[in-house]
Amino acid sequence: MRITIVGAGYVGLVTGACLAETGHEVVIVDRDAERIGGLKIGRMPIYEAGLERLVSNTAGAGRLSFTTDLAPAVADADAVFICVGTPPRPADGHADISGVHAVAGEIATALCAFTLVVTKSTVPVGTGDEVEAIIRARRPDADFAVVSNPEFLREGVAIADFLAPDRIVVGVEEERAGALMAALYAPLTAKGAPLVVTNRRTAELIKYAANSFLALKITYINEIANLCEEVGADVVDVSRGIGLDSRIGAKFLKAGPGFGGSCFPKDMLALMKTAQDHGVPLRSVETAVAVNDARKGEMVRKIVRAAGGSVAGKTLAVLGLTFKPDTDDMRSAASLVILPRLIKAGAVIRAYDPAGMANAAPLLPDVAMATSAFSACEGADAAVLITEWDEFARLDLSQLAGVMKTPLLIDLRNLFDPAIAARAGLRYVSIGRGDDAAGLPPAGFETAARSPRRLALS
Ligand code: UGA
Repeated sequence: MRITIVGAGYVGLVTGACLAETGHEVVIVDRDAERIGGLKIGRMPIYEAGLERLVSNTAGAGRLSFTTDLAPAVADADAVFICVGTPPRPADGHADISGVHAVAGEIATALCAFTLVVTKSTVPVGTGDEVEAIIRARRPDADFAVVSNPEFLREGVAIADFLAPDRIVVGVEEERAGALMAALYAPLTAKGAPLVVTNRRTAELIKYAANSFLALKITYINEIANLCEEVGADVVDVSRGIGLDSRIGAKFLKAGPGFGGSCFPKDMLALMKTAQDHGVPLRSVETAVAVNDARKGEMVRKIVRAAGGSVAGKTLAVLGLTFKPDTDDMRSAASLVILPRLIKAGAVIRAYDPAGMANAAPLLPDVAMATSAFSACEGADAAVLITEWDEFARLDLSQLAGVMKTPLLIDLRNLFDPAIAARAGLRYVSIGRGDDAAGLPPAGFETAARSPRRLALS
């Protein structure tokens, strides 16, 4: 099929390159001439593992191209995907869908033969109806169907998420649109990807309900981690112990500094607002947002407590700044809240992140950026791990302990085995494992010994 993608951002690029990979002929349109110019010569505007190669392969095979000219690309297409941003409106947290409306208007004027207009951007329930009304008002004669097809792409593994999805969700209001969407995704459903076909409003809600549920799961395990610290339990084993129950599932049960990123915080806010507007407030979602916001303050208190009650005048090495590993994305990263508060409390911060430092530098002007984890840790009073990059998991902890002034590692992602950290000579403080309970343990303290059940389980 001939497919046009409007928006060469994260979702548009991944969707376009993956649809080209499955055999379709794809044109990606963006009004940003610099971005399109860069893409034409293989320069990616975002960091996503495998994307550059996929774009170069599919473009080289003649199935993927880029343009700033929307009208001809829409006129030629069987399906046009709307992949533009829907950021929260600063005034009220509602998703700002003015970009989607504007693109719908532009598409309307260019439509020729029957065309699917597919919304992939995350949009509030009812946006498909609005898109349809905008197009219909401009072009009463046009033959088109508006479809909702939400994306479930995690940054860092977006290509795998697209090509081997847990499910594909399609919301349609007429049968021929459903049939065409099934044909479009046939290369993936043939390999076993389940296709959920429903009405448009349901598809729109599925996206928000999925993201909010995952964020609830994370919030829940973070609260359980707090309880673990008080009762001498181990949250890593609690996650494993409950996650093996197939009704619960093991994923998204890693305790940490709270969820961030460009999606969960924004989508929960938008869902909350929609629910409030309809008189059915989602209290579980509202609570999770509040608990997640408070989480950053808890992390600051944890760091200060581990540092002996004050960070004033102390040098902290921070490992990882991005909201999660394998991305350079700093949006709603925990580091953006935690680090300024530590600096306000008198800490001097040296940070290192494998990919996020360029984006982080302007957002964290008082943080010195280091060239490696070791150089950040040299002479430091403590190291604080905020993002669980693989590069950090491979660090030689004995060597790390050796370069620090005080061998204290505060691990907000439970990346390390407490026994190994202790053997390396580090005082190790992590999440939900009771290793920073009142009465600070001495350096070299064998943390695993605090939790005999952990020893029995591992
Ligand atoms: C999320 C969803 O996972 C995707 O399915 C969805 O398509 C995407 O949002 C979107 O709406 O576009 P993403 O924001 O890339 O993807 O990141 P996740 O991997 O979901 O992580 C979100 C946050 O939760 C991160 O800060 C991460 O560190 C945190 N997290 C995740 C935990 O703290 N614990 C976990 O067990 C898992």
